[in-house]
Amino acid sequence: MLKFPKSVLLATAAIAFSGGSVLASGDIDAGEKVFKKCMACHMVGDGAKHRVGPELNDVFGRVAGSLDDFKYSPAMKEAGAGGLVWGADTLATYLHKPKDMIPKTKMAFAGLKKEADIENVLAYLASFSAGADMDTAEPESTPTAEETAEQTAPTPALQNADYEPSTGPMGLGRVALPEEIAAWDIDIRPDGMGLPAGKGTVAEGEVVFTERCATCHGDFGEGRDRWPVLAGGQDTLTDERPEKTIGSYWPYLSTVYDYVRRAMPFGDARSLTNDEVYAITAYLLYLNDIVTDEAFELNSENFTDIHLPNEENFIADDRQEEPHWKADADPCMTDCKAEPAKITMRARVLDVTPDSDEGEGGGQVD
Ligand code: HEC
Ligand code: HEC
Repeated sequence: MLKFPKSVLLATAAIAFSGGSVLASGDIDAGEKVFKKCMACHMVGDGAKHRVGPELNDVFGRVAGSLDDFKYSPAMKEAGAGGLVWGADTLATYLHKPKDMIPKTKMAFAGLKKEADIENVLAYLASFSAGADMDTAEPESTPTAEETAEQTAPTPALQNADYEPSTGPMGLGRVALPEEIAAWDIDIRPDGMGLPAGKGTVAEGEVVFTERCATCHGDFGEGRDRWPVLAGGQDTLTDERPEKTIGSYWPYLSTVYDYVRRAMPFGDARSLTNDEVYAITAYLLYLNDIVTDEAFELNSENFTDIHLPNEENFIADDRQEEPHWKADADPCMTDCKAEPAKITMRARVLDVTPDSDEGEGGGQVD
């Protein structure tokens, strides 16, 4: 059954012949900014791959849900089978409120409220679509394929002369460059060791969070659909189903900074600047009522002054101080059995493996 209005289909047919009025008024550069909201899930441009959502090259003229190697929702495939083809009008309808058009789409995105945003993002997407009428877009301002490639291309292979050969016994590999070690060595300890220089306020964090995180985690960290909740849950830890969030459960702020910098936004990890991560971390403190002033600035200096509410309930795991260790402070580590070990029972007898007497292929082990 088709869930979207017939008029949408008719509009699509019209669009196949004309470029569509939506494109005529869109601004590609502005659209590139709007596309940041999509980037958590979609790629477009040279070398674009599927992420949470399908790649969007040549989306104009694409039958909905038709890329073989992407796992669409049944609803999206059904829409395509029912005749939905992406063009300026159908995309505009979809992007305004995806779930109004295709209620069971798995695109977890509330939609673009502003008409201008939709027009601009469509102009941007059209610049990567051979099927769109490009006369209406300005080729000059089109982000070129090279530009996009620059951002996604792997760094060029190092010249042999740039690095020191291995001095190890097998002569394999090479000595890592200081920049490579720095890029990899980003962990931060609870005592602040490893924190990069930088700063960001709650108010700045709100802007970045709304743009880069809210599609999944909600505007206030309440979590959309089944994406993780990032705020609240205080006083639920003793419940049968505790709500474990940064505010209720996490012991150290350093983990928040590290996690966000290392892994978020999901699908576009390591794309935030250090200052943006400070700002987002400040905003997450605000969402969890740990700071209350929107002007609060988190920085590398005051970072360790902040303590999360549950810190006290985490204890250092120092085995040597535990009673059972103390009682047997000098455990035997070699030749501890007086006699050689004897087999006293077999798994078959213990009845832990399925009985294969009645047939072949029981996979019996003893
Ligand atoms: C939270 C992740 C997420 C965000 C954010 C998101 N999308 Fe999607 N998008 C998806 C998923 C997942 C699908 C596949 C939907 C389905 O199968 O029901 C999809 C499908 C689509 C499709 C249909 C493609 C096809 O091959 O049929 C288009 C077009 C699209 N998205 C455009 C956008 C645009 C433009 C934005 C930003 C304004 C955006 N999406 C934001 C996850 C996302
Ligand atoms: C496309 C959806 C998506 C976007 C966008 C996104 N996240 Fe996430 N986030 C996830 C998923 C999925 C997980 C769980 C990952 C896991 O458990 O492996 C997660 C986990 C987290 C966690 C850990 C939560 C916990 O309690 O374990 C934090 C903190 C977080 N995200 C912060 C952010 C921030 C900050 C941003 C924006 C910069 C962001 N996320 C953007 C999907 C997203």
